[in-house]
Amino acid sequence: MTRIDDPVPRSDDGACVAYRWPVEHRESFKTLQSPPEKSFLEVFEGRRSTRQLGYASLDTILSALHFALSARFRKEGDALNRSQRPSLSAGALHPISVMLFTDSRVLRLDTDAFALEQLVFPEDARDAWVSRCRRVLPDANGTFLVLVADMARPEAAYVNSESLVWRDAGAMLQTLALTAELFGLGFCPLGILGNDVVSVLPSSGQLLAVGSAVVGVPAQSVGSSS
Ligand SMILES: Cc1cc2nc3c(=O)[nH]c(=O)nc-3n(C[C@H](O)[C@H](O)[C@H](O)COP(=O)(O)O)c2cc1C
Repeated sequence: MTRIDDPVPRSDDGACVAYRWPVEHRESFKTLQSPPEKSFLEVFEGRRSTRQLGYASLDTILSALHFALSARFRKEGDALNRSQRPSLSAGALHPISVMLFTDSRVLRLDTDAFALEQLVFPEDARDAWVSRCRRVLPDANGTFLVLVADMARPEAAYVNSESLVWRDAGAMLQTLALTAELFGLGFCPLGILGNDVVSVLPSSGQLLAVGSAVVGVPAQSVGSSS
């Protein structure tokens, strides 16, 4: 087993240039739904991976994602844009974006600018990714998510930063799963990473695909007694 070297903070933050996403169209969020009132215990104990899903409205999904991912506090004047959000993140860098695959569009949530971006993305690559996800979870007719890290800021802050980002991805999956439960959505991670998605994006050398998931309306269990 190859051991991964520990990350080491750099004495000064290095230079970094954020990835420029190929944005075709950008829109501000319309009204977001407030998070339902539920106890932490109810959410914590209720969360289970759900593999039988129907489509949820994009509004509900965006409301849940925004609640899960948006910054609650930002470090002013910080070149690496450190922030605090519901998920843990090494160095408070939060380098992971969420891409959404609907049946017709590929979107990215820009939680910093409070905006939804429609990305330039080849249709055949989009269809191929959705088909691949459906082969993993055939009963999940939901919206597929890909977690993609821009490694520019982690690399500017740490030597050997990659393992930190993998751990961030696990923390983000847990936050997304709990938030889905809060909003009455079903959620399941997928074992596939999203490399096929990142490889289609232009100049994507600084991006790292760190996981995928599906979110939707949980199907009623067949034959369940009321
Ligand atoms: C990184 C990761 C990848 C996973 N990949 C899959 C998958 O490909 N297919 C699947 O059905 N479940 C997948 N799961 C869900 C696990 O199977 C599930 O979390 C586990 O069975 C525990 O059940 P629970 O989430 O309902 O508590 C994944 C979970 C994680 C954290």
